[in-house]
Amino acid sequence: MADQQSAPAGPDLSKGVSLSEFSGAALLGHVGDQDVVLVRAGAEIFAVDAHCSHYHGPLAEGLVDGETIRCPWHHACFDVRTGEATHAPAFNPLGVWKVERDGERIFVRGKCDQPKPRVKGPRDAPGRIVIVGGGAAGFAAAEMLRRQDYRGSVVMLSSETSPPVDRPNLSKDYLAGSAPEDWLPLRPDEFYADQGIDLKLKTEVLSIDPRAHNVVLAGGETIPYDRLLLATGAEPVRLAIPGVDQPHVHLLRSLDDCRAIIASADGARRAVVIGASFIGLEVAAALRARDIEVHVVGLEQRPMERVLGAEMGDFVRALHEEHGVIFHLGDTVTAIEGKRATLKSAGAIEADVVVVGVGVKPRLSLAEKTGLAIDRGVKVDAYLETSVPGIFAAGDIARWPDPHSQENIRVEHWVAAQRQGQAAARNMLGHRKPFDDVPFFWSQHYDVPINYVGHAEKWDEIAVEGSIAAKDCLVRYIGGGRVLAVASIYRDLASLQAEVAMEREVA
Ligand SMILES: Cc1cc2nc3c(=O)[nH]c(=O)nc-3n(C[C@H](O)[C@H](O)[C@H](O)COP(=O)(O)OP(=O)(O)OC[C@H]3O[C@@H](n4cnc5c(N)ncnc54)[C@H](O)[C@@H]3O)c2cc1C
Ligand code: FES
Repeated sequence: MADQQSAPAGPDLSKGVSLSEFSGAALLGHVGDQDVVLVRAGAEIFAVDAHCSHYHGPLAEGLVDGETIRCPWHHACFDVRTGEATHAPAFNPLGVWKVERDGERIFVRGKCDQPKPRVKGPRDAPGRIVIVGGGAAGFAAAEMLRRQDYRGSVVMLSSETSPPVDRPNLSKDYLAGSAPEDWLPLRPDEFYADQGIDLKLKTEVLSIDPRAHNVVLAGGETIPYDRLLLATGAEPVRLAIPGVDQPHVHLLRSLDDCRAIIASADGARRAVVIGASFIGLEVAAALRARDIEVHVVGLEQRPMERVLGAEMGDFVRALHEEHGVIFHLGDTVTAIEGKRATLKSAGAIEADVVVVGVGVKPRLSLAEKTGLAIDRGVKVDAYLETSVPGIFAAGDIARWPDPHSQENIRVEHWVAAQRQGQAAARNMLGHRKPFDDVPFFWSQHYDVPINYVGHAEKWDEIAVEGSIAAKDCLVRYIGGGRVLAVASIYRDLASLQAEVAMEREVA
C-alpha cells in the first residue's frame, strides 16, 4: 500500500473539459497540483478529491454508484455531494470541489466549503452510551455517534494501552518496517477529548449489570449506561505447549504485541511462524522484508485452502516460497526449549523469534456472564441488538443474520467490524436500520493484495476468470447456483461490481 499521491494526472480541470471528453462515470484530472475526480451521477456532475482518505486509493479507478464512489482498494464509500465517508474503512471526508458548467464545458477551479454530512440526527437519543472495546467496532461506533450529532455522553472502555489503532497494519507495513508508527492511530490522541468521547485506556470491564444498567470495572468503579455496545473483539489462541511463555515467543493482536515482535526481530537471523493462515503469512512476509529467514509451520497441507480453495492456496504458497519462506506443512511445533522449536514430524528449528498465529477466539466472557444469548458468538438481531434490549454487539464477537448468505454468520474482518460499529451507533440512536453490508476483507502478501467480498464457508464450485498464477483473477465461489463470494487479485473494479451485485440481490 503506497502512501504517496501521484503527480497531477489527466486534464487540467481549471482549463475545462468538454462533455465529450468526459464520457464515463469518473474522470481523473487536476486543479493546480491537486488530483480531482469528476463524477457523473445521473444528470449532475460532482468533483471530489481523487485520493481516498483511508490509504490514498485511486478513486477514479473505483466504482460510481448513484451519488457515491467506492474505493478500489478496501471498498470505503463516499457521498460525492457531501464528501462524507459513509462506509468504513475511511472516516475522513473527501474535499468537495465546485463544478461550473459553461455550455459543453465543465470547469473546476476551487474547493467548496466542506458540506455537512447528511445527518439524520438522533431520534430517540439516550443520555449515556457506553462502549466496551477500543478496536475497530468500538472506535467506528464512537465516531459515528458524534457524526450523527449525538450530544449525550460517550464513554469508551479499552483494556489496551493505546487509543484505537489500524490493527491490520500490525501484520503488514508497520511490522515490515515500512510504515512509521504515526500511521497507526485511527485518530490523533486529542480527537477523543475534542469530541467529548471519554476514552479510558488500560481499563478492564469485569461485569455488566443489565438490571442496574451499569458496567463494573476491574477497580470496582461502576459506570452507568442507557445503551451499551459490546465490541470486545477476539483474542489469539494460545498454544498449550512447553516454552510458549518465553520472551521471544509472541502472539499478535495489539500494538504492544507488535512492538514486542519488532524488538525480538531486531538483529534476529531466523524466525518461526506457527500458523499458515492470514495473520501467520502476513507476518512471514513482513519478517522477510526485514531480511529474516522465515519458517512457517502449519497443520494444513495448503495455506488458506479452507477460505480460498486449493488453487489460491497453492498460489499463496508459491508466492511466499518465491520470497524465500520455508514451509513445514502438515506439521506443528510440540515444544520450544530456548531457541529450539521442536517439530512434530522430527527435527527442530533454531529461531530467535517465534510468532504464534493459529487463529483467534471471540472474547465472549462478559457476554456470557451477562446472560446474553450466545451462539458461537454473541447472537444479535438484524439491528445488532443482543437478546437483552439496549445492549448491542458488533465486530468479531457478533453473530448476525446475514441477508446475503441467509445464515447467521460471524466474521473476523476489519471493515465488517467498523461498519457494524457504525450501524450499531445509528441503531442505538433509534434509527432502526438493519445491518446488511456485504462482508469484505483484504489480505496483503508482498505486493499482492487479495480482496474478498461475500461469505462462503463451503461451495459447490470455484470458477476462475483470468489467471491466479498471473496475479490477475476474479475467483467466484458458487453454491446452490449462486455466487456466494468473490476473491480477486488486481481486479478491483470487478470486486466492487460483485459487491454491488450482492447488495442488489437482497435490496
Ligand atoms: C495483526 C492483525 C492483522 C489483521 N489484518 C486484517 C486485514 O488485513 N483485513 C481484515 O479484514 N481484518 C484483519 N484483521 C482482523 C481485524 O483486525 C478484526 O476483525 C477487527 O479488529 C475486529 O474488530 P473488533 O472491534 O471486533 O475487535 P478489536 O479490534 O480486537 O477490539 C476489541 C477491543 O476490546 C477491548 N476489550 C476486550 N475485552 C475487554 C474488556 N473486558 N474490558 C475492556 N476492553 C476490552 C480490547 O482491548 C480491544 O480494544 C487483523 C487482525 C490482526 C490482529
Ligand atoms: S485506500 Fe481507500 S479504502 Fe483503503
